[in-house]
Amino acid sequence: MNERTLVLIKPDGVQRLLTGRILARYEDRGLKLVGLKLIRVEADLAERHYAVHREKAFFRGLVDFITSAPLVAAVLEGPNAIAVVRAMNGATRPHEAAPGSIRGDFALETAQNLVHASDSADNAAAEIDLWFTPAELLDYGREIDRWVLAPEE
Ligand code: CMP
Repeated sequence: MNERTLVLIKPDGVQRLLTGRILARYEDRGLKLVGLKLIRVEADLAERHYAVHREKAFFRGLVDFITSAPLVAAVLEGPNAIAVVRAMNGATRPHEAAPGSIRGDFALETAQNLVHASDSADNAAAEIDLWFTPAELLDYGREIDRWVLAPEE
């Protein structure tokens, strides 16, 4: 099923100069970038994004971290994009992330795990709506699509 998912390359990823390498992994897989921006997040957006964690002990630290420096927000599109991106990111806790995944290759700490991605279709829709306006999401074809994507029925 063709899906869209939200990815954040969190401040640790940007500061460690991994933005290009992380985006390249998603592009290499065949996923299409339909939205992309570098932003310094306000606390209000960070708190809304992480609202499900509001009661957790690490919530304030998480908001402080995500607002501490610029991050890259992206919307990726492709077949089963939500599950594909989560598998590419690896487990939330980097010591459990498989080698070959982004966290398994580049991260050691849960609080500095480089990337965030939507975990369900409902959350993807809500998170994309939170981070991007409709005008910031582009519908376009790529020449390579016929080599990457099955023909539409
Ligand atoms: P993310 O996928 O962005 O979603 C919630 C984030 O909370 C998670 O990645 C981690 O970066 C962070 N997180 C989860 N558990 C902890 C923890 N125990 N301590 C600090 N940060 C955490």
